[in-house]
Parts: sequence; C-alpha cells; structure tokens
Amino acid sequence: MMLLFRLNGQSVEVETAPDRRAVDLLRDLGAPHPDVKDVKEGCGTGECGACSVLVDGVHRLSCLMLAAQLAGREVVTASGLGSEAAPHAIQRAFADHGAVQCGFCTPGMAVAAAALLQDNMAPGREDIRRAISGNLCRCTGYVMIVDAIEAAAGKMRSDPSALHEERVASRKAAKSSRKATMPSRKKAGKS
Ligand code: FES
Ligand code: FES
Repeated sequence: MMLLFRLNGQSVEVETAPDRRAVDLLRDLGAPHPDVKDVKEGCGTGECGACSVLVDGVHRLSCLMLAAQLAGREVVTASGLGSEAAPHAIQRAFADHGAVQCGFCTPGMAVAAAALLQDNMAPGREDIRRAISGNLCRCTGYVMIVDAIEAAAGKMRSDPSALHEERVASRKAAKSSRKATMPSRKKAGKS
C-alpha cells in the first residue's frame, strides 16, 4: 500500500506492506525521509517503552502498531520534540539532571514525558512515575528521570512560549486532516 502520514512535521509517502510493524517502518524509512533511529526496539512485545512515539499526540508503542495504522496520522518521535540547536525543555532537563546514561531508553522516556506534560503541566512525582511506568531503564534507577521531568514541567510552566505551540498546532492539523481523510475512530474501532 502507499502510506501517507506526517512524521516530525514532514510529509511521508512510502510504499509498504500494511502489516509491517510501525517500528520497523519508522526506523528504516531512509532518505529522503527524516532519520528516526531514535525510535528504539527493545523487547518488541510492548513491555519496555523504547519504541514510544506520539501518534496524534497520544503515547503509543510502535512495536505494537502496524504501518497501516499510521495512515493520515501525525507521528512525533523524540527527535521531533526538539533539535540539538533548540532542544525541547524535556531534552534539556534530561541532560541537566543526569537522566541519560546509556541512552537507550531516553527517546522513549522523552516521548512518554511529552505525552504527560501536554496534558498535565503540573504533575506530581507520582503522576510522573505513572506516566513512565511502561518505560524501562536499566541504568538510572529512575530518580534522575523523575527529577528531569519535574524540572521540565517547571520550566514549561514558567516559559509559556515553550509550551508546545508546535504540538498544539500539529494536533489541530492532525485532527482536521483526520476528519477530512478518515472514518471516525469510533466507526473504525480502537486501533
Ligand atoms: S520495543 Fe516496543 S515496548 Fe519494547
Ligand atoms: S539510560 Fe540506559 S536504559 Fe535508561
């Protein structure tokens, strides 16, 4: 099938088997599409969170999604949250708080954190732990990750310009493009 979706703000049009796993599709897109090797595969069975992405703003595990489920969606990976030159508050806080050691879990953690903070700008530590409970880290013991997400939330509250303007815009765009091109989720069934 020819699959069309948006990835980190760019349009993607690619020929693929519809039952290919989304994690494989994203990691192997290749030029001219953006490099999304930041989407990791750990367990491949929905247990570790390493393959986390945002799909229309919702935290999803790409190892449990089929390529066809990305059709018409807005997909954001950790590298779409910010860049090296202009890191997202979450990415900066992870670096500042020593929340990155081997780094394998970090993109998925950042995505889980972004999903939390777009809905709850003042999460308690328990909220943060719950939000990352599906993301496993073998290195940090989680405390520094929770510290980083708490600090990112504080930074984003104090700097409304960092407050997901792009995310809000992309969610609106995704909503309207979904309305225009797809049956409602209710009609289509839960994906
Ligand atoms: S690789 Fe998807 S949850 Fe582990
Ligand atoms: S930093 Fe190594 S798995 Fe989390």
